[in-house]
Amino acid sequence: MTARLLDGEVVAARIRSQVAQGVSGLAAHGVTVGLGTILVGDDVPSARYVEMKHRDSAEVGIASIHEHLPADVSQGELDSVIARFNSDPDVHAYLVQLPLPPALDESAALLAVDPTKDVDGLHPVNLGRLVMGWPGPLPCTPAGIVELLHAYDVPVEGRHVVIVGRGITIGRPLALLMASKGPGLNAAVTVVHTGVPDLAEHVRRADIVVAAAGRAGLVTAQMVKPGAAVVGAGTSWSGRKLLSDVDEEVAEVAGWITPRLGGVGPMTRAQLLRNALQAAERCYAADRAG
Ligand code: GUN
Repeated sequence: MTARLLDGEVVAARIRSQVAQGVSGLAAHGVTVGLGTILVGDDVPSARYVEMKHRDSAEVGIASIHEHLPADVSQGELDSVIARFNSDPDVHAYLVQLPLPPALDESAALLAVDPTKDVDGLHPVNLGRLVMGWPGPLPCTPAGIVELLHAYDVPVEGRHVVIVGRGITIGRPLALLMASKGPGLNAAVTVVHTGVPDLAEHVRRADIVVAAAGRAGLVTAQMVKPGAAVVGAGTSWSGRKLLSDVDEEVAEVAGWITPRLGGVGPMTRAQLLRNALQAAERCYAADRAG
């Protein structure tokens, strides 16, 4: 392998220690940062993700507030838990774990979350802030990807970034973030997806490729310009094996590459903790001002 590894575990550990410092700074003022989770039903991967978020929180001193609702919960009952989290001063930030069971209205649930407590950064108000270039909680995976590139001094400003995938959690907000005006951003961004016939031609022109389509092995070595940075953000499952959108052979061509495990995932989780801390800091500042 010739590519330099973009090691998300190393960078995320650094972020967690910064977050832990911020959390103890607030604790000195009597504030315990609280991260809430609402899990509906018994989807095993969702339960595991929520558990990991609580484990990460505990490591940096963030308190966990968890509500587990049965799969057949009514929309009204879910709404009332969301309303309770919105008004609970101990919950500084929280998320409704997706996907919800099909009988529930996912959009209604997400819209009901107080945008100031939206730890995912995916509330339409916060996505709107990103469109406008206003400060606000950033979506975790896009923010994590940008920070990972910066940590390894991958040039971004003025470079051509090709994002494969237009999903709401990664592709679309990442395009907005990387094209926005600001230090370490200002990129020329192209968004493509699996419906684009000459996908390979687009990817070949990229200085930075972000694969976020959720299709195993979609980005191959032949599609990558030698020396480009390649970030595997999309995953899919084959039985119990987690597969990357980036073929392993890309490491022979790329200048930088994320490992199959320990690349973007730890960065996403670290950004979630940072969003929770920042929500608590904003809340503390508002209380003092008010
Ligand atoms: N389900 C899978 N990933 C996520 C995430 O990042 N946020 C939420 N709320 N649900 C998810």
